[in-house]
Amino acid sequence: MLDYVREIERLKTERNAVVLAHNYQIGDVQDVADFVGDSLGLSRQAAKTDADVIVFCGVHFMAETAAILSPEKRVLIPDLEAGCSLASSITADQLRAWKAEHPGAIVVSYVNTTAEVKAESDYCCTSANAVEIVASIPADQEVLFLPDMFLGNHVKKMTGRTNMTIWLGECHVHAAVQPVEIIRAREAHPKAEFMVHPECGCTTAAMYLSSQNDASMDGARILSTGGMMTRAKESPASEFVVATETGILHALRKENPDKSFHAVTEAMICRFMKMITLENLYQALADDQYEVSVPADIAERARLPIERMLATA
Ligand code: 13P
Ligand code: SF4
Repeated sequence: MLDYVREIERLKTERNAVVLAHNYQIGDVQDVADFVGDSLGLSRQAAKTDADVIVFCGVHFMAETAAILSPEKRVLIPDLEAGCSLASSITADQLRAWKAEHPGAIVVSYVNTTAEVKAESDYCCTSANAVEIVASIPADQEVLFLPDMFLGNHVKKMTGRTNMTIWLGECHVHAAVQPVEIIRAREAHPKAEFMVHPECGCTTAAMYLSSQNDASMDGARILSTGGMMTRAKESPASEFVVATETGILHALRKENPDKSFHAVTEAMICRFMKMITLENLYQALADDQYEVSVPADIAERARLPIERMLATA
């Protein structure tokens, strides 16, 4: 059988390619990547790399963002079917119609959107900087936030903004988490710190329960996947309960071998993220497939909101 890891390393050098992998990728893919991170970190890497080829081990909108930021580079995704249910929850036509109902509103789009939707937006954000970006918009300015309703509600609560309308999109993986699953997992690991991704349906429930003084939600930290990586390292805690896609457990355990990490539920699996394998990553490098490119006019309009996203600290 072909030694995929060795072949991937060989082809990376031969083609001057960089492999970028999201924190939700399978462990084998993370281990062969040059950089593993969250959406914001991966966009930053894509913008600054001097490689000729970027192989994006993540989902399609992430590869599109890389293609917009590095138009002179060849961006490949090992499986073109690796989409995102959240990004599919709003089209550019739907956004144009929504904007027409709210003339003058500032549009803030989560990075989990297609390039066409980004091109209709004023700002992009990720879960790592959504609060900061919305907070930077003048308080009297109406904001349309899309497409994740749970992240939107989190941002609304954190900024105290009342003039913000939120698109009712959701990620099928995160929206499915139930407060009862959190309570069970936290009871099973009473000393663990609790980290939760803002896309989780339970962030709204968690905040509600928190405001009701429900002790099971005490100290919940709502973090991007990159924020979870940082927090796990810096926290004095040695045990964590984690509510996000389970691929991150590999990264957390690898970076923190002396700490333990428990999934709220092992059912949190993004089938799109899991479409990338060592085999199709190898094939991508060997056969130069599948290129992700964005039409120049759309890329041109999408670049400013993405650059505003990257300009945050
Ligand atoms: P992060 O930016 O936190 O890595 O999230 C990306 C994502 O797709 C979450 O489902
Ligand atoms: Fe999209 Fe959800 Fe998968 Fe993240 S976990 S890539 S939001 S479908």
